[in-house]
Amino acid sequence: MDLKFLVFFNFLSLVFGYADWSEDEYPEKWYSNARDNLEKLLSRKPNKNMAKNTILFLGDGMGITTITAGRILKGQLKGRNGEEEVTNMESMDNVALSKTYGIDSQTTDSAATATAYLTGVKTRVAMIGLSGRAKIRECSPQLENYKVKSILKWAKEAGKSVGIVTTTRITHATPAGTYAHTSYRNFETFDGKVFNLTHQQNGCKDIAAQLIDENSYIDVIFGGGRRKFLRKEDRDYHEWNKTGERVDNRNLINDWHYKMEQMNKTHKFVWNISDFENLRPNQYDHVLGILAWDHMKYEADRVVEDYIDEPSISEMTQKAIELLSTNPNGYFLLVEGGRIDLAHHNSNARRALEEFVAFDEAIGLANKMVDHEDTLVVVTADHSHEFNIGGYSKRGNPILGLVDSIEYRELSSGGYTFTSLSYGNGPGGLKEIRNRNLTAKETTNIDYHQESAVFMEYETHGGEDVAIFAKGPMSHLFDGTVEQSFIAYAMAYASCIGPFDRNSYPTCEFERGA
Ligand SMILES: *[C@@H]1O[C@H](CO)[C@@H](O)[C@H](O)[C@H]1NC(C)=O
Ligand SMILES: *[C@@H]1O[C@H](CO)[C@@H](O)[C@H](O)[C@H]1NC(C)=O
Ligand SMILES: *[C@@H]1O[C@H](CO)[C@@H](O)[C@H](O)[C@H]1NC(C)=O
Ligand SMILES: *[C@@H]1O[C@H](CO)[C@@H](O)[C@H](O)[C@H]1NC(C)=O
Ligand SMILES: *[C@@H]1O[C@H](CO)[C@@H](O)[C@H](O)[C@H]1NC(C)=O
Ligand SMILES: [Zn+2]
Repeated sequence: MDLKFLVFFNFLSLVFGYADWSEDEYPEKWYSNARDNLEKLLSRKPNKNMAKNTILFLGDGMGITTITAGRILKGQLKGRNGEEEVTNMESMDNVALSKTYGIDSQTTDSAATATAYLTGVKTRVAMIGLSGRAKIRECSPQLENYKVKSILKWAKEAGKSVGIVTTTRITHATPAGTYAHTSYRNFETFDGKVFNLTHQQNGCKDIAAQLIDENSYIDVIFGGGRRKFLRKEDRDYHEWNKTGERVDNRNLINDWHYKMEQMNKTHKFVWNISDFENLRPNQYDHVLGILAWDHMKYEADRVVEDYIDEPSISEMTQKAIELLSTNPNGYFLLVEGGRIDLAHHNSNARRALEEFVAFDEAIGLANKMVDHEDTLVVVTADHSHEFNIGGYSKRGNPILGLVDSIEYRELSSGGYTFTSLSYGNGPGGLKEIRNRNLTAKETTNIDYHQESAVFMEYETHGGEDVAIFAKGPMSHLFDGTVEQSFIAYAMAYASCIGPFDRNSYPTCEFERGA
């Protein structure tokens, strides 16, 4: 089908929906669905193998509402009702709930949570790779004693290859959780303001410098954020009118090259999509791909009239798996769908849900590429958002559209139309009561901000539990309601690394009775 026609058709289904569910009227449809499900569950045997490889997919801000609404959008983009769609994450074998609170916070952030699910230790909000004995923004020699190691480091110590894929800056909280130790997530670069000479003299190092100076063992990195690595006087490679932010006279990309040469490692820095696409397995020991000046683009904005200058999250995931798979000892890979969160902060459900669909596609692709006999795939979120879905919409009602129910057109108290999706707080908030009707055309627009109860410039995170999905060796450990920090611990047990390596825990490989 012609692409333009497909886009037009998708637009129609986004605005007007689709409503044929006639086969659902027959009991046999539901018995047959249940029978299939039952057979799947009855034939399931726990996989007690050692996980040679582990992939952790982290949907930043991907609460359960985002999964439900994203699933519906995914189905509707295929011209279906949407509610019955099966996402790649939900078709994985095991599921659990994760309690996301931080030690000092009911509703938490991506730094404290990354520390939890990557190191196995909960900490304070805004801190990365340090236990809660450290204080926020603290810079002192004490910090050395509070460092906690991430599963990426454990995997490297076990001789595995390790990689990071993110759609945000590679110095942002989630990817930094794999390699950095910092008392403040915003110490991303030496900008002389948020992070300055005083911080450095007191023993702190900015996150970008930590990546280059102390974590050069990482095999593959794909994400954005060149501005954090370049000096104020360095022009960006691609966005010519932009420069870096560093004022410590260090161009960290040059420093990376120098460091790799010192280590006699074959290496490649890539900043553009053509160099990215040309990367082949076994070509280089280390690949540093910083593919955007800032965060990478939203999926919804990535392809503009056939002009593409950044790879998709699926392309980065595929490339990372290909490059990492050459190690006979296996690999650990973190893949972050990092901009679901950022779109939600703008109360921009359409971009958030399109990010979700792209993230779910990357999961589907990875699940096709790997062998779950030896590869554990875990999908989770760090925290939720104040994002809601409801209003008695009828089946197949466009998820980004107006509430339209079976019996009558639901209207707000003023007698006005409203949307199925809304936010508890955020920039779409009602500074005053809205006294006009919304139209479906405006609510499905790419820039529409769903309405909120409380007006705020920046919508906040949500505090409820998030889901963990898993498939592969020991995936049955993901069961029940668990502390978020259990995720790192369970993944380490599945591959007998870190606290479960041969020296610390010699029975790991044998006690599971594989
Ligand atoms: C660095 O920033 C801190 C505040 O975070 C300030 O107290 C200090 O004076 C600054 N140091 C320099 C050298 O600018
Ligand atoms: C920088 O360049 C981009 C296009 O590459 C343009 O859209 C933007 O307006 C420019 N900004 C400034 C400050 O010149
Ligand atoms: C790198 O190679 C050079 C020349 O072969 C050698 O002198 C040096 O010790 C090597 N460095 C490391 C870190 O292996
Ligand atoms: C990509 O980067 C390489 C290395 O800087 C450069 O040689 C090449 O021309 C770039 N390609 C594009 C399409 O910008
Ligand atoms: C708003 O829409 C509802 C439902 O379509 C309609 O009944 C009502 O008259 C509209 N109000 C205005 C002010 O257009
Ligand atoms: Zn956030």
